[in-house]
Amino acid sequence: MIISARARLAGVMGWPVDHSLSPRLHGYWLEANGIDGAYLPLAVAPEHFAQALRVLALLGFRGVNITVPHKEAALDVVDVAVPLARRIGAVNTITVRSDGTLEGTNTDAYGFTEHLKATVPDWQASGGPAVIIGAGGAARAISVALVDAGVAEIRIVNRTLARAEALATAVGEPVRVVAWTSRANAVGDAALVVNTTTLGMTGQPALDLEAASINDDAVVCDIVYAPLQTPLLRAAAGRGLRTVGGLGMLIHQARPGFEAWFGVAPEITDDLRAFLAADL
Ligand code: ATR
Repeated sequence: MIISARARLAGVMGWPVDHSLSPRLHGYWLEANGIDGAYLPLAVAPEHFAQALRVLALLGFRGVNITVPHKEAALDVVDVAVPLARRIGAVNTITVRSDGTLEGTNTDAYGFTEHLKATVPDWQASGGPAVIIGAGGAARAISVALVDAGVAEIRIVNRTLARAEALATAVGEPVRVVAWTSRANAVGDAALVVNTTTLGMTGQPALDLEAASINDDAVVCDIVYAPLQTPLLRAAAGRGLRTVGGLGMLIHQARPGFEAWFGVAPEITDDLRAFLAADL
């Protein structure tokens, strides 16, 4: 890849950032579309985050993605945060506007919904309750996505009850809290089950949830993408349930930023998925 002096610049800011798939993802799209641009990994410590974000605008960057642990802090640093980002309580995509100010948005909810609809086109929000396992940032984005999709009941199940309660309070109706010990019961009549915890990730224990306890009609999603097929997804697929893996959410959430910074709506292809999976 050779860039000119007019190359468009973007990147991902995190701490650490070396685990991020985003540079490969955006790099693939830049190459596939023959765009004169670059997308860089930007390792920025929390104490330098606000300053680094300001400097990016001065350096002529078009924008950045924000990842762990800066997503919540970014909400306070940007000049304007769209209402969706405020509801989610986090910013993952920043655009530098023509006057140099920073606009923050959050594409995680969009990424989740788009990937779900692309993978299970006949999934309907009206189909029944959704159960979200976990209460971190990803759970909050997904609960907002499901509220906006029109799901009538969203159950949050989290090891630490207080975090689940905080999420339910922040997002509001129709989110409610179910005790961690009642999780098998909670998925019995669910139309959608989503794991947002780190359980099932390479090197982590599996989520302790019997696939047999999940409703026969449920769609089971995992936001973990390493491995591509988590123990939860394997067990659900083994029971004949429809499953949705985590890599697609990552790919879909990246599209709006790429389009804003580089001017092209990028495509999601099997070749792209294979390219990313090769690095997991
Ligand atoms: P993110 O912002 O990416 O969602 P996070 O805020 O670190 O990440 O949240 C991780 C989630 O995984 C939390 O819901 C966490 O539960 P706690 O709130 O009880 O910490 C959950 N999690 C992590 N390890 C877990 C474990 N061993 N058992 C149960 N839940 C776990």
